[in-house]
Amino acid sequence: LSTIEVDVSAIEPGMSVTAKWRGRPVFIRNRTAEEIEAATGVELDELKDPVARNANISSDAPATDLDRSAGEGKENWIVMVGVCTHLGCVPLGQAGDFGGWFCPCHGSHYDTAGRIRKGPAPENLAVPIFEFVSDTTIRIG
Ligand code: FES
Repeated sequence: LSTIEVDVSAIEPGMSVTAKWRGRPVFIRNRTAEEIEAATGVELDELKDPVARNANISSDAPATDLDRSAGEGKENWIVMVGVCTHLGCVPLGQAGDFGGWFCPCHGSHYDTAGRIRKGPAPENLAVPIFEFVSDTTIRIG
């Protein structure tokens, strides 16, 4: 299917689900206040990839926490293709030096906004086209 709908009503803060979309994993995480704070506290010039990589907004939007998230009022939600931008392994959640995702294949560390912070991966984890079609349902694609 080119689009999927995911019911996120049971995903409490600090929980994630992995959906399957076009044969790839998509991570959907309801971030905690601490995770959001950790990501908003980072300056853009600290980032290896300063571009948001968010298919829902301008291709040159900066990789602020807000522009990586589901946006104003839904900053707690982050939706990303779960494929490492190095050579395509699936990163592990809540792991690595930045408390976000960690790719064990060659050691790429992503932060709580899915931004590459250390290791060989060149880009932030991609945010696919998605939208909330109700308060509790996300459509991806
Ligand atoms: Fe993830 Fe190489 S594929 S670090």
